[in-house]
Amino acid sequence: MSSIRRIGILTSGGDAPGMNACIRSIVLTAAAHQIDVIGFSHGYNGLIEGEYRTLLPYHVQHIIHLGGTILKSARCPAMHTEQGPKAAAQTLQQLQLDALLVIGGDGSFKGALAIAQHYSGQILGLPGTIDNDVDGTDATIGYATAIDTALDAIDKIRDTADAFERIFLVELMGRHSGFIALSAGIASGAEQIICPELGRLTPDDLERVTRPIQNAQLVKGKSSYIMVVAEHCYPGGSTALAEAITKAIGIECRACVLGHIQRGGSPIGADRILATKLGAYAVEQLLKGAHLMMAGEVNHTASLYPLQASGEGKKRIDPYLLRWQQQVASD
Ligand code: F6P
Repeated sequence: MSSIRRIGILTSGGDAPGMNACIRSIVLTAAAHQIDVIGFSHGYNGLIEGEYRTLLPYHVQHIIHLGGTILKSARCPAMHTEQGPKAAAQTLQQLQLDALLVIGGDGSFKGALAIAQHYSGQILGLPGTIDNDVDGTDATIGYATAIDTALDAIDKIRDTADAFERIFLVELMGRHSGFIALSAGIASGAEQIICPELGRLTPDDLERVTRPIQNAQLVKGKSSYIMVVAEHCYPGGSTALAEAITKAIGIECRACVLGHIQRGGSPIGADRILATKLGAYAVEQLLKGAHLMMAGEVNHTASLYPLQASGEGKKRIDPYLLRWQQQVASD
């Protein structure tokens, strides 16, 4: 057993619904083990600049249902310099922290690995990002809520698309992966899904998307048509793609970029449960001496995964659904 008395926590990168539930779980579990918790504000910026506060169980009362993060989040350019990770490690040493828990995505975990070069305590990561692009866990905290948020929006767009018999392109987030696009696209019954795993588009490649639209119009007559497009899949995004399709087939297309709406809102039950489980598990694993690992969940079981490997992009979006989507969307 490692002797952990004081730990630091922070949330970093794009915030995700369930981060608060995770903070709460860490603080409550730590209190149960007589461990003090220091919360750093604004991601790694707070660690570098010494912006922190003690977190007691009453500070995390009634936050399990809140989106965002009570610790605030940020990206931190200083972490990409030589000095940033050193300064972060210095704060940890000065505050006599035995360990640091980082809730974020793989970019945040890279920061944690850089700090580890200068810090003698333990470091663990917890996967918090709507994108689900972290290896070593079936789902990241926030992903399930983001799907439902996107789904709610697409269902509403379907109503107006139906009323006007229009073609809509709905752009969803995901950085460089199609987890949200595929899931929300399948669940909303979108006619087409464009995501990196199904191949990005270029202006020379437009036929790939216009042919299915034209076929659908021929087979079904005029009707609504929804194409879910993951971000960064076409130069200029879905607005440019809608214009290109309109020009190519002569039927007006509308684009709707959902944007940061997908990051907000109250976490759904699955995210609250995952966040609670992983927060508790991370504290328990710290006590067992875990270091430079990520606390994830695979097949409903909490497990550790090397932090270093969490960003290798090995996790594949559901091949079964991918194949099905290709089958039904093809002409
Ligand atoms: O990492 C989550 C995420 O929301 C991505 O899906 C998106 O590409 C990115 O963050 C947007 O980042 P920012 O809020 O810095 O524009």
